[in-house]
Amino acid sequence: MTEPYTGIKGSRGDELAGRRIGLCITGSVAAFHAPEIARELIRHGAEVVSVLSNGAQSLIQPELMRWATQNDPITVITGKMEHIRLTEEEPERLSLVLIAPASANTLSKIASGVSDTPVTLLASCAIGAGIPIIAAPSMHTSLWANPVVQSNLERLRGLGVETLSPLVSEGKAKMASVTDIVEAVIRRLTPKDMEGLRIMVTAGPTYEPIDPVRLITNRSSGKMGFALAQDALRRGANVTLVSGPSALAPPASAEIIPVETTREMADTVAEQLKETEFNLFLAAAAPSDFRPVEPSSAKISSRIERPLDLKLEATEKVIGQIKHLQPNIFLIAFKAEWDKNRIEMIEQAKVLIQESGADMVAVNNVAVKGAGFGADENQVILVKKDGATIDIALDLKQVVAHKILDAYLEASHKKP
Ligand SMILES: Cc1cc2nc3c(=O)[nH]c(=O)nc-3n(C[C@H](O)[C@H](O)[C@H](O)COP(=O)(O)O)c2cc1C
Repeated sequence: MTEPYTGIKGSRGDELAGRRIGLCITGSVAAFHAPEIARELIRHGAEVVSVLSNGAQSLIQPELMRWATQNDPITVITGKMEHIRLTEEEPERLSLVLIAPASANTLSKIASGVSDTPVTLLASCAIGAGIPIIAAPSMHTSLWANPVVQSNLERLRGLGVETLSPLVSEGKAKMASVTDIVEAVIRRLTPKDMEGLRIMVTAGPTYEPIDPVRLITNRSSGKMGFALAQDALRRGANVTLVSGPSALAPPASAEIIPVETTREMADTVAEQLKETEFNLFLAAAAPSDFRPVEPSSAKISSRIERPLDLKLEATEKVIGQIKHLQPNIFLIAFKAEWDKNRIEMIEQAKVLIQESGADMVAVNNVAVKGAGFGADENQVILVKKDGATIDIALDLKQVVAHKILDAYLEASHKKP
């Protein structure tokens, strides 16, 4: 095959590299999302083969799916035995079958073992061959409320089919979002090497009020902390995410505790650590280091005649308390440095290890263009308690997060 995906393959991560996904499309209006789902899966490294029922083909053209996947769409089962090749024979065997959108008709047929379309036949074979199946139902609420449809869904779940809850609005049970569908695929295919571990992550900036409408904060976006939480969730960990204000959506299925000020973050972390034993603490938040000594309870007038004095004081050190509360927790602290060289950054990391008792510090130079605060990428040096270092090259925060968690598993001897 020639270079297939015009540069998008792996552009959002390599979580699905080497995976072949069968994207089954059925006769629901949500079929218009199918090209987008295919492209997102490819952006995460997957190869995609599309399979369309007749119902789907009356709504979208197979040619669109040929473009989206750069593979021949399957619209009819022929003497080539596509359903057997895709479920039994390497190298064509699928890693996962994704039915999105999944019509009431197709779901019910699969639940009863009916195999009369390319989609139902492939799904039936996949169940027998032990290939994971995820279905994203989409239909009007009248169909969704039909007890026969619901009992068929229950039956499918009993067969190991993962069904993604639709979003019910405007009289419709709408297909889950493309982001949630792709995340479900990634999660299903990620090896569960953190199963049973409890992890706390802090993420984002904090806000320190100057008055009711103005505040002191920093450029942290929450991306690095969210990427760590998401990677740990994909690997099977139980994640508590204490997050400062962020414009981004936090990863689904983490226990999320929103906070605003550094004091709130410190108090929340302390409460959690007193209640529950955690294996790992990832202090990826950038809590504001200073706060106004006397925030005004009323809005300060913008018509001031002389410079406004703003007196600041240091805030609580969130990571300072962690090892006191749970001496056995593995603590990874994060340190943002501005324009320091490698040796200086490592020295700063060692100082933080001394101060906080951290087992590891991830230090980065936020002056590097495209890395650090707000950026999609990061580049860090991991400094361990014994002074050993691991360089993690500039890459997507998701990839950096995965490598940091690999380093944790290695250092804590939890690597399977
Ligand atoms: C425009 C249009 C939109 C439809 N949308 C849905 C839908 O969202 N969900 C659903 O279960 N059926 C929907 N249907 C009905 C299915 O297409 C119909 O039940 C068909 O037999 C499904 O076949 P399939 O499951 O093999 O694709 C729609 C039909 C049309 C014409």
